[in-house]
Amino acid sequence: MDKLAIQGGTRLEGEICISGAKNAALPILCAALLTEETLHLDNLPKLRDISTSLTLLGHIGMQISLDETGGIDLQAARLDRLEAPYSLVKTMRASILVLGPLLARYGEARVSLPGGCAIGSRPVDLHIKGLKAMGAEISIEHGYIHAKAARLQGARIFMDSVTVTGTENLMMAASLAQGTTTLENAAREPEIVDLANCLIAMGADISGAGTDTVRIRGVGRLHGARFSIMPDRIETGTYLVAAAMTQGKIKLRQTRTDTLDAVIEKLREAGAKISCDQDTITLSMDRRPSAVNIKTAPYPAFPTDMQAQFMAMNCIAEGVSSITETIFENRFMHVQEMQRLGANIEIEGNTALVRGVDKLEGAMVMATDLRASASLVLAALVAEGETVIERIYHIDRGYERIEEKFNQLGAHVKRVH
Ligand code: EPZ
Repeated sequence: MDKLAIQGGTRLEGEICISGAKNAALPILCAALLTEETLHLDNLPKLRDISTSLTLLGHIGMQISLDETGGIDLQAARLDRLEAPYSLVKTMRASILVLGPLLARYGEARVSLPGGCAIGSRPVDLHIKGLKAMGAEISIEHGYIHAKAARLQGARIFMDSVTVTGTENLMMAASLAQGTTTLENAAREPEIVDLANCLIAMGADISGAGTDTVRIRGVGRLHGARFSIMPDRIETGTYLVAAAMTQGKIKLRQTRTDTLDAVIEKLREAGAKISCDQDTITLSMDRRPSAVNIKTAPYPAFPTDMQAQFMAMNCIAEGVSSITETIFENRFMHVQEMQRLGANIEIEGNTALVRGVDKLEGAMVMATDLRASASLVLAALVAEGETVIERIYHIDRGYERIEEKFNQLGAHVKRVH
């Protein structure tokens, strides 16, 4: 298994380009199942989760071809099977996003339950509840969701808790249903807006995406389209935190400046100077960061996917801070690893108390989940000496060419096979 060997102590300086958003690309790839025509996508990030998703879609029977510019053509004219097997779903929970499209277009789907993951139980009960409200007959047998529906019917669905992929699954299912569906208490993440924009380009009739009430008027069929995936706001935030921690000065290109308000606010509170201009964000930090308190919540509040990165910054910041994780029940897997680097963190329930230390020391650490692994890279960038991070396949799931991009900014990161 690959490792990353990182020499700490360099300030990050320079500029890099941000890749397409993983969490927008994953539902949009599944949206291709909703039409027999070709969906052409650009700005798809080259990530492990994307290739897993393409493997799953290929298994179902989707025709997939890459063009010379890196764009991709997807066509679900004739499908071989209407199922997502456990062998694939267990490696990526977002595979559940084929359920809504398969049910809406083919009237049947057999999708493995995703099972838990490192950061929490992560049920899919709200996906199932919403599809049942639209008339689907659903049973759970031998770890698989069996769903059938001659034609889904529009319904008013109140989502008990805010769920990103739940909102996405139901939005895709409703786009071909008979009648109108209203999703109340819907998630508001920018990736949901991106999916809605792609579905609208394919002929769907959707309003309210990005608010807590999304209205979808079902249509008879969707057609092909060309669509470019939005930039990745979490990749953007991760590099911004890295620059703040190393007291550097970086410019991020091909990103969005309107999807990270809560994160930019916190970085300014920590002392960073940030300027935004169209698709570019510049950050400079000329002193040790001040500790900042964090509480995660659904968009537009502070994103849970940036919690571990801010914990890394708080570990070496001036002062004491509290970090409260309200979305997932076990998203502090990075704490023990950071303590190995010399961090001073105490956990009380879903809150971590962090006392900033003057320096961290390099050590062997282990990646556990995607964002926790990224936070270990950030900590390693400021730790004294060498840090070796094992099991970095977690990082490759969500960060395109991470060592190349960090080295482009002056870091010393080496991938060890
Ligand atoms: C999405 O996961 C993201 N993944 C996650 O990013 C992100 O952390 C999460 O949203 C929260 O923002 C993708 O978009 C592919 P949820 P998702 O459904 O949709 C509970 C990353 O690092 N819930 O919004 O699976 C659930 O237990 C990944 O890129 C139910 O109870 O998360 C959790 O506590 C990690 N029943 C909360 O809602 C359900 O049916 C939020 O989960 C669904 C969810």
